Amino acid sequence: MDHRPDSRSSTARTGTGATRAAAGAGAGPRVAKKESTSQRAHRLKRVRELLATRNASPKPREQVQQRSPQKPEHDKQRQQRQQQPQPQQGSAGLSALQMRMQQKLKGARFRWINESMYTTTGEETFKMVQNDPSIFEEYHEGFAAQVRKWPANPLDLFIRQLEGRQRLVVADMGCGEARLAAAIGEQHTVHSFDLVGYNKRITPCNIANVPLSSGTADMAIFCLALMGTDFIAFIREANRILRMGGELKLAEVVSRISDMDAFVAALEEQGFKLGHKDTANKMFVVLNFTKIGPHPKNASAQPGLLKPCIYKRR
Ligand SMILES: C[S@@+](CC[C@H](N)C(=O)[O-])C[C@H]1O[C@@H](n2cnc3c(N)ncnc32)[C@H](O)[C@@H]1O
Repeated sequence: MDHRPDSRSSTARTGTGATRAAAGAGAGPRVAKKESTSQRAHRLKRVRELLATRNASPKPREQVQQRSPQKPEHDKQRQQRQQQPQPQQGSAGLSALQMRMQQKLKGARFRWINESMYTTTGEETFKMVQNDPSIFEEYHEGFAAQVRKWPANPLDLFIRQLEGRQRLVVADMGCGEARLAAAIGEQHTVHSFDLVGYNKRITPCNIANVPLSSGTADMAIFCLALMGTDFIAFIREANRILRMGGELKLAEVVSRISDMDAFVAALEEQGFKLGHKDTANKMFVVLNFTKIGPHPKNASAQPGLLKPCIYKRR
């Protein structure tokens, strides 16, 4: 079954602000279908072929010429050479074909990182990115390319909502490049947490364990950030840092949620009460909870409550 959002979906408005529904015709995220062994072997073969093509691609003409001894060229030969089609050169001296190959490789790498993050725990992802912080940049380059294709980004909804509020202490859990803090950081105190300190606004950590004292935040936001298989531990951490009556806001890809009632119940078990559920957008659901009590001692959720979200080839 294809879980992509319905490409015929039309513009919709959320309860709190104008969020256009994702028309998505192939642009949006979808939920992973299990890849068979032969499909995986085929995909890996393609990636190897692409890598081999990149390594074996011809050098730009200037470089080749620099290395060959200069021989006198007859007028006729020069004329013939000038009439031959020349490869288009990109800004980095790559031909159009090389640039297409490079984009394909970047896309394949993004999908691999994305899938890894959805199929491991927060701690495993944190270690993976600590060992190689360039993963974060590669992921965000690919993520930004996906977001550019969306008719609406739920982060903009959260930004608009916060613009009209009294000063709050906000924890942006899985903040990406900390765009929320950049937008409303003068009006509110925003703590931005993610795997890598990509800019000075971000505190690097696993969001299952953030360096913020208990009961000090008024709001915790997870905008498409429930990526780890242990996402309930992230919710539990939100409960710890929130004051009683504090707000938990999250946006998730609708097709990730196999059973909405079970998903809401699992979050409520962590000491929250659902307030508003915004399903106006076909692609994302936005849920607002209030903290009504401490989290229980143990955090666990039924496996499969949130499916991994994968992206189409670019
Ligand atoms: C889909 S991106 C969304 C980024 C941002 N919230 C936005 O809406 O633009 C999810 C983010 O969550 C972060 N993330 C996922 N698991 C994490 C973890 N265990 N600890 C910290 N950050 C995590 C990723 O690094 C990524 O930046």
